Amino acid sequence: MIATGSSAQPILEVHGLSVNVYKGEHRVPLLQDVSLQLVCGETLGLVGRSGSGKTTLALSIMRLLDAGFEISSGEILFKGQDLLRASSSEMRRLWGRHISMVFQEPYSALNPLADIGTQIGEVMQEHLGCTRAQARQRAAELLCDLDVDQPELRLRQYPHQLSGGQRQRALIAAALAGAPEILIADEPTTALDPVAQIQILNQLRDCCLKREISLLLISHDIPAVVALADFVVVMETGSIIEAGPVAHIIEAPMASPTKELLQAARRFSKSAILATI
Ligand SMILES: Nc1ncnc2c1ncn2[C@@H]1O[C@H](COP(=O)(O)OP(=O)(O)OP(=O)(O)O)[C@@H](O)[C@H]1O
Ligand SMILES: [Mg+2]
Repeated sequence: MIATGSSAQPILEVHGLSVNVYKGEHRVPLLQDVSLQLVCGETLGLVGRSGSGKTTLALSIMRLLDAGFEISSGEILFKGQDLLRASSSEMRRLWGRHISMVFQEPYSALNPLADIGTQIGEVMQEHLGCTRAQARQRAAELLCDLDVDQPELRLRQYPHQLSGGQRQRALIAAALAGAPEILIADEPTTALDPVAQIQILNQLRDCCLKREISLLLISHDIPAVVALADFVVVMETGSIIEAGPVAHIIEAPMASPTKELLQAARRFSKSAILATI
């Protein structure tokens, strides 16, 4: 099944991707024949139960799977270029500047020994040729867009001096710092309370819209994805089992895991967004 956002130009296409991991001699399939498209300027929501393969897919796109994983078939096309054939120096050129990612573990993703301004600014200095002063100015603007109070002060602070929500916004700002064309956000709000989650996801989407960044938003949180995405892909045990425009998925979910995810979302959340699904 090819999951496609619309007839507009795709910026990212995954075709027939299969990934395995080796446990000793034993080969365990993690992704099986996964295909999807991210359309330029759109938000593609990727949902599925824990362990369904969402992070494996994201790390495959970034070419960041550990040794021990094997991509046995498929293509990952970024503007027509197969990333699976790109050299490591080519991937280093693409990371941050063209394709960027917010990783699932917020606590390990920031360096505890560097201030926030340095961590957001270094991508701009490296990829955009900014001076340190320009990078800090742009970093402050990014934090401001993400609704962080006292951005200038935050830039001088270290990760442990920030709240969980501020740390998460700093990570998002770092991922956006290189003005990428694609942002992959893997559960970018996992560790936060539901209100903060919705706020940050909204700000993240608005930042992407403002900068014309195509967003692959990975989440367990169906209501959030429904609120933000143009198109939704549902994964189950390493395969895509359902895909379509958001409205179709809500109104007429076909696969039982999608129905269960929607039912669970309705049962457990009382957020205003749920009134619309
Ligand atoms: N390093 C690894 N070695 C072996 N199996 C792994 C490894 N990493 C992931 N897996 C397995 O791959 C499958 C998919 O994991 P993945 O992390 O991609 O799921 P996910 O959909 O991102 O889950 P979650 O919603 O909990 O983040 C799981 O069954 C997991 O146990
Ligand atoms: Mg994951």
